Amino acid sequence: MIATLSTAFEIVTAAPSSVAADWLAVGVWAEEALPPAANELNTATGGLLAKLRTSGDCTGKHLELVPVLNPTGVAATRLLVVGLGKQADATRATLHDAGAAAARFITSKKVGTIAFALPTPESTLAIGVGLAQGCQGPGVRKTTPTRYAPTQFVLVGGDLTVLPRVSAEAEALWLARELVNAPPCDLYPETFAVVAAEAGRTHGFSVEVWDESRLAAERMGSLLGVARGSSRPARFVILRYTSPGCQTSLGLVGKGVTFDSGGLSLKTTDGMVDMKCDMAGAAAVLGGVQAIASLGLNVNVVGILALVENMPAGNAMKLGDVLTARNGKTIEVLNTDAEGRLILADALCFAAEQVNLIVDFATLTGACLVALGSETAGLMTNDDAFGEQILGAIRKAGERAWKLPMDASYDALIKSKVADMRNTGGGRWGGAIAGGKFLEQFVGTSKWVHLDIAGPAWAEAESAALDAGGTGCMVRAIVEMAKSITSV
Ligand code: BES
Ligand code: MN
Ligand code: ZN
Repeated sequence: MIATLSTAFEIVTAAPSSVAADWLAVGVWAEEALPPAANELNTATGGLLAKLRTSGDCTGKHLELVPVLNPTGVAATRLLVVGLGKQADATRATLHDAGAAAARFITSKKVGTIAFALPTPESTLAIGVGLAQGCQGPGVRKTTPTRYAPTQFVLVGGDLTVLPRVSAEAEALWLARELVNAPPCDLYPETFAVVAAEAGRTHGFSVEVWDESRLAAERMGSLLGVARGSSRPARFVILRYTSPGCQTSLGLVGKGVTFDSGGLSLKTTDGMVDMKCDMAGAAAVLGGVQAIASLGLNVNVVGILALVENMPAGNAMKLGDVLTARNGKTIEVLNTDAEGRLILADALCFAAEQVNLIVDFATLTGACLVALGSETAGLMTNDDAFGEQILGAIRKAGERAWKLPMDASYDALIKSKVADMRNTGGGRWGGAIAGGKFLEQFVGTSKWVHLDIAGPAWAEAESAALDAGGTGCMVRAIVEMAKSITSV
């Protein structure tokens, strides 16, 4: 039901002109001087790249693509000159996007081998994973694909030591995006749990799945309140990866609402149309743990997937209902569409019993999209130093988050007359923060970061470097988070 990435990565040190491939992409900076790989190709082609510069056809502007269909002097069938932007401004994000844009251009047709002549060995990870990003589209159920992943990516001049990481992150990114793009008729809590179990078997981490009766026995009344309205039963999945002798443990919690109709507080069609994406947090956690396990990183990880469907029904939770979470706190439900925080309440209680460091990933609020736009996650924390550490990891991975305030005065947003708290903010203001303040009630004394990924998890339209649909956001960031924990 969920296809895995079948493309193999290879790193070679040969001269770019000697590499046989259906396409050979070559990166050039906006600055005049050609990187060594491009220079070698320029010489082999009798000055082609220099001529393209002079004629103004190739400027090196970021994401500029110049195809050359019948090159002479090279072993590859076609060349693609890829603008990398200014070398001085290069980051993992700009190089990732350049790799992705090149792959998007090429993979609308079926080809076997795509090679990329890298500008520097340091760009191996960014461009390698970017290539994988660019060969996956949203049309997971089209009988004629619109995008074809190649048999092989060859990174020319790459850093061989980074190869396992390129493959692991590319596969994990692919998995997360396939999950987000899968239709909700196929992907619901039970089938998501099956995919997780399979990933655990093939990548070496343990997977425990709790069903409804176990969830009731474990006092997860808040999560079960949301699940009640659906004929698809909830699942709670615990992923465990341990590194022998390692003392530090990281908890990763993902919101996995496989479809969010809003429940009795029913969404409009426009609001509901993309709500298969509401499990992107859980997809990121599964992908992230899979990558960490394949790389054998020196950290212990507990990944938690809170999986439910949010539906209206005769037995669905009602407005005014009071739910009791695992830590005994009571919650007045005033909007059944604020369901993400209800399932995360119990998941965070469980995580806090297991670990001292927790990061949660959730497509939690439209308000976060209003605040930060669609490309940046909202970051909320109960520990500024841990928040900065996680923010640093996200940036290093080429992803984006921005801190929102969590001062005690915002506690008023979740005050209830009848219970310990209510599940929605009072009015229109501070909706993302109200979500964060709510979740904070369930993390105990653990250091915790909440990432509201309602914006970056999903691309409404395609762009130069990204197809529409699931983006795979935070998979790369999770690997950096784990690496930053190992070095603490
Ligand atoms: N899953 C949605 C948030 C969302 C909105 C994600 C748009 C991606 C894109 C969440 O469950 C939700 O419905 N949130 C409500 C909260 C409100 C009722 C307090 C919202 O944002 O309107
Ligand atoms: Mn909702
Ligand atoms: Zn939701």
